[in-house]
Amino acid sequence: MAQEDLFKKLVAHCKEYGFVFQSSEIYDGLSAVYDYGQYGVELKNNIKKYWWDSLVLLHENVVGLDSAIFMHPTIWKASGHVDAFNDPLIDNKDSKKRYRADVLIEEQMDKYEAKISKEVEKARDRFGEAFDEAQFRSTNPRVLANQEKLDALHRRFVKALNDSDLVELRQIIVDEEIACPVSGSRNWTEVRQFNLMFSTEMGATSESASKIYLRPETAQGIFVNYLNVQKSGRMKIPFGIAQIGKAFRNEIVARQFIFRMREFEQMEMQFFVPPGTELEWFEYWKEARMKWHRALEFGDDNYRFHDHDKLAHYANAASDIEFRFPFGFKEVEGIHSRTDFDLGSHQEYSGKKMQYFDPDTNKNYVPYVVETSIGVDRMFLQIISAAYTEELLTKEDGSTDTRVVLKLPPALAPVKLAVFPLTKKDGLPEKARTIVDDLKFDFNCQYEEKDSIGKRYRRQDAIGTPYCITIDHQTLQDDTVTIRYRDTMEQERVKVGVLKQTIKDKVDITNLLKQL
Ligand code: GAP
Repeated sequence: MAQEDLFKKLVAHCKEYGFVFQSSEIYDGLSAVYDYGQYGVELKNNIKKYWWDSLVLLHENVVGLDSAIFMHPTIWKASGHVDAFNDPLIDNKDSKKRYRADVLIEEQMDKYEAKISKEVEKARDRFGEAFDEAQFRSTNPRVLANQEKLDALHRRFVKALNDSDLVELRQIIVDEEIACPVSGSRNWTEVRQFNLMFSTEMGATSESASKIYLRPETAQGIFVNYLNVQKSGRMKIPFGIAQIGKAFRNEIVARQFIFRMREFEQMEMQFFVPPGTELEWFEYWKEARMKWHRALEFGDDNYRFHDHDKLAHYANAASDIEFRFPFGFKEVEGIHSRTDFDLGSHQEYSGKKMQYFDPDTNKNYVPYVVETSIGVDRMFLQIISAAYTEELLTKEDGSTDTRVVLKLPPALAPVKLAVFPLTKKDGLPEKARTIVDDLKFDFNCQYEEKDSIGKRYRRQDAIGTPYCITIDHQTLQDDTVTIRYRDTMEQERVKVGVLKQTIKDKVDITNLLKQL
């Protein structure tokens, strides 16, 4: 299936099965804002728990925080967001559509890469087993020509970004003959900077009101509380503070469903370390975070690091963890070595000391910070894209049928167990209810009695329920049920008495945490 079709199906599936809805849909929607439905919210909560427990539960020196969305406006001046949290924008004069100039150029680089991959795949098909990819890439004239164009463009792009050279960014778009996807024309405006923060007013009257911002990252709430936590928790450096919360950005290129939203949720951890040790900790957290992703077993090949060409104003090293989405490899998480920029800057703007007294060396210093920052919604999209599977089944009469199944890790699945009475009579519903009433304290169970068993299985497959049990007449005689496994569709008969422990063992989040 073409990746674009797959993505459209995913979006439709999320709506049909109660995972994600467009915000304000009955008013034709609000762009780049989404609501999570009955199964979406469960999956989202499970993702957050996996993240939280992996940091706060498993590390003695990482603690949690829940800071407010509204903060003193000077915080955003100190953090650099008022002056530098900008995107370079360009408008097409014919379609009147607005684009991020850097995204247009990145897409152009993707095109060169796609041309190279196409040549490689064609050659692989032609030469079969004997194909030597490295040799082909280093000798094929078409590959070499495209690689040269790609490298030259990349060098020029990085330089323009590092120099914040908006004129050069526009010139690259012109020289590469990049056209507007809507009008097809190359009639571009100048490139301008656009600040991404939302603002509102706090105060009762217009005279007394002051402008405040909706936070564009949760990290600043951690920075300004770091000494409160350190002192009240008697924390010793190195230590971390983890937080999950909403963030807001007035994204211009808000596309690809929940990949880029205007209101989204972040899971961020700031790890405070002695100056000079930050790059070691940066490597440590890069590996730890990659392990966290890979433990979900969606395939190691689907992840890669992408080291930043252009460092943000606060960083001395930065790397993204990228996942292979249906629309290509894209960032899911950022790991940033943020130096002492934020704490140093808050010290300067607030006039309050942000130093830590190190009892081992008897010295005061402003700690350095390594940050891990991941979007809950983007992680959600990653999981749904990786889990969505269409399987062609051949029925007994030889006809075929497609089974849509979300192969979610059991620990993250919204519903862990569905319980079906075979029929609506003979005491089977009552028996099924007793089982649900017993198990519902331990994990999320769902009772279903409508439609054939086959249809009920399909509905549960579509929401990723890993286990279904059926209560039949034999159950009333020997207290056994059939358990059906989502991925293999195999069934076995088990005693009702062992159900709780068997399923609990399989769906426990500890299974994931133990791999870290
Ligand atoms: N505190 C650092 C920071 O915010 P970032 O790279 O701008 O860094 C971190 O964002 C993560 O937040 C991203 O890797 C992504 O997962 C998520 N994220 C950022 N902007 C987003 C948006 N508009 N919609 C959804 N997720 C977003």
